[in-house]
Amino acid sequence: MSTPAARWRAAPGGTVTGTFTVPGDKSISHRALLLGAIAQGDTHIRGFLDGEDCLATARALGALGVRIERPSPTVVHVHGAGALRAASAALDLGNAGTAMRLMMGLLAPQPFDATLIGDESLMRRPMERVAQPLRAMGARVDTHDGRPPVLIHGTPQLRAIEYSLPVASAQVKSALLLAALAASGRTVVREPAPSRDHTERMLRAFGVELEEHPGAVALDGGQALRATAIEVPADFSSAAFFLVAGALAAERPLRLTNIGVNPTRTGLLEMLQLMGADIRVLPRSGGATRHNAEPVADIEVRASPLSGITVPGHLVPLAIDELPVFFIAAACARGETLVRGAAELRVKESDRLAAMAAGLAVLGVEHRLLPDGLWIRGTGSLAGGTIDSRGDHRIAMSFAVAALRARAPIEIVDVANVATSFPGFEDCARQAGLGLTRL
Ligand code: S3P
Repeated sequence: MSTPAARWRAAPGGTVTGTFTVPGDKSISHRALLLGAIAQGDTHIRGFLDGEDCLATARALGALGVRIERPSPTVVHVHGAGALRAASAALDLGNAGTAMRLMMGLLAPQPFDATLIGDESLMRRPMERVAQPLRAMGARVDTHDGRPPVLIHGTPQLRAIEYSLPVASAQVKSALLLAALAASGRTVVREPAPSRDHTERMLRAFGVELEEHPGAVALDGGQALRATAIEVPADFSSAAFFLVAGALAAERPLRLTNIGVNPTRTGLLEMLQLMGADIRVLPRSGGATRHNAEPVADIEVRASPLSGITVPGHLVPLAIDELPVFFIAAACARGETLVRGAAELRVKESDRLAAMAAGLAVLGVEHRLLPDGLWIRGTGSLAGGTIDSRGDHRIAMSFAVAALRARAPIEIVDVANVATSFPGFEDCARQAGLGLTRL
């Protein structure tokens, strides 16, 4: 799906303002499809993310015999039959790591075999982190040197395990919880730090009982899922680009509405506030009830002087997808910023530490690339230049925001994958005031 020719030119400087929202949450949209597929009855999803990643999940479920209707781009009906059937070909999950890892958990206990593949980026990403604990449950899963293609030899008789994740990962935790639904006994998953808990919240909405303690979640196998209605809040990770844009250049307030503010996702808010950002979170009453236990808020931001910080380690997993755009805030802040404990960024859609470091070098920002983070010395204004997004949606959007503080245009190469998570980013960006043109 990557079209290297697709590129943007972001005009230097300018301000941002306005009131708008962003598309539906990617993590929640994937989960609504997957849980709907194995539930009994019809699950109705509103606010679904009409992005390439979630569409890849929908196509894969279609190939597994699940009937899915989309009366409009953001409304989806999943007709759950409680069972899946073998697909006739490999399931291509495109750029979507979440889809592949969660599917591994979903497919391991099925009575048939399946093969999972993806695009060039996904075929390079580590899958043993899911395959290993699944094998401990009795699953038969093969990877190719730890990467896709992933071959799953369906094993209906899985057994529960107690497993401690070596790194905080919602994808691994979620895959194990999905497999645990079909395993005999009680599965316990422990994590070294909290990761996003959308699967736990949504399983409850589907009638599954779980026990949660700080750092651990337990689930008894053999529970059936009951279809439900899911309302997906706007994606905090997409809002993040505008939060940073606003912190840098909203001379008048910029307000983002209906944003999911699950505390396992909002580390960026705290990080920006520590830097001195002027951000107000206005909770929407009834948001959590309407959105299946996912809290929702409007967020307002205005420009203010930012100062560099040492990011507290516990915030890193709570801002894992927002770190690229946070590095842009750091590049524009006064003083030094240090992020450590973020080695996971090296195995995302690209090596995000290396991609950001290379881009910051082009923009003349003094920085040091560390094995697990970045040190950045902020500067009042950035140079222009050409940035290689490495086909990574979040790198592309981060450097579009950087242009607000640049002295010359920034060209961003290989931006087609922005459609995986944020269809309509260009329009939203222009609506906010960014001078973005597709070349
Ligand atoms: C996700 C979990 C995170 C995140 C990814 C989406 C999810 O990955 O980076 O974009 O939906 O579960 P890890 O579980 O690898 O940290």
